[in-house]
Amino acid sequence: MVYVASTTAPVNIATLKYWGKRDKDLNLPTNSSISVTLAQEDLRTLTSAATDEGFTQDKLWLNGKEESLDSARTQQCLADLRGLRQQVEAQDPQAPKMSQWKLHIVSENNFPTAAGLASSAAGFAALVVAIAKLYQLPQDYSEISKIARKGSGSACRSLFGGYVAWEMGENLDGSDSKAVEVAPLNHWPNMKAAILVVSDMKKDTPSTSGMQLTVKTSDLFQERIKNVVPQRFEEMKQAIRNKDFPTFADLTMKDSNSFHATCLDSYPPIFYMNDTSRKIIRLVHSINAFYNETIVAYTYDAGPNAVLYYLEENESKLFAFIYKLFDKVSGWETKYTEAELNDFLKEFDQ
Ligand code: DP6
Repeated sequence: MVYVASTTAPVNIATLKYWGKRDKDLNLPTNSSISVTLAQEDLRTLTSAATDEGFTQDKLWLNGKEESLDSARTQQCLADLRGLRQQVEAQDPQAPKMSQWKLHIVSENNFPTAAGLASSAAGFAALVVAIAKLYQLPQDYSEISKIARKGSGSACRSLFGGYVAWEMGENLDGSDSKAVEVAPLNHWPNMKAAILVVSDMKKDTPSTSGMQLTVKTSDLFQERIKNVVPQRFEEMKQAIRNKDFPTFADLTMKDSNSFHATCLDSYPPIFYMNDTSRKIIRLVHSINAFYNETIVAYTYDAGPNAVLYYLEENESKLFAFIYKLFDKVSGWETKYTEAELNDFLKEFDQ
């Protein structure tokens, strides 16, 4: 008999960045982080896990192609999940001995690679949750997030929807380094995210090696983890709970800038943003200045693509400018006249 379980996991974008490991094997971070889950149904990884006494080896198909399961991180996730399954079997002698059987895993991203989004977070989250379901593990999602964390740090945050914190923890074994929900998605239903795809090329420096270099070489990084992020972590959670958009947005932009500053301070320096990314940053600040209010925030991960956060009621205020600047104004309804938009952009371009 083949046992099967399926799940989907969302993409998450950090608004307070995880950058730096204090333990590389356990993926323990040097600071706590916060993310907002992208709720679109078409930005998810869908994974099914199957097991059967007759399977002869562990197998994985990713987006229709068979891939190796050999990476140390994946092996660690599978070993941890099988360990927890053994506990289930020890308590219930009737439970099938799935921990001894091989797994077949099928995983697909329903978003195009061209979206320029990293998929490892949603990928590991879906893999771990699908197997946890298959094994009928009694642990809650925070507990299971510790296993996803070992696959990819940011993956632990993709086990929850909405607003999520990854608490860095203190213990050497990582037993307190886990994701927790700050607020569910429906807490702040008018929050929206837009992804501006600047480039869909693969990133230059992978996150894992990039952050290792930063930890080793950047002085600014020490300042960031000791004196900047701990306070920002508390402030951002509070801003989310209070639905205080200007504070949330300011913290988000500052933290993106702080993270990219430590990349530049790494030696040799790491550049993730390009000229277009920087142009978008200037545009966002100009838009906020234009309205005399923070209505939009940007954030950048380890690549040049911008994610913008804004409240739904401000959508037309924002996109009037974005579409105009990036030559996509057709079909977009705005209450601004062509002349008003042009005036603003003239100033912005100076
Ligand atoms: C810039 O989670 O991809 O997106 O733990 O080595 O797999 P590993 O790194 P990863 O790093 C994500 C870095 C980031 C910031 C963030 O998501 O918090």
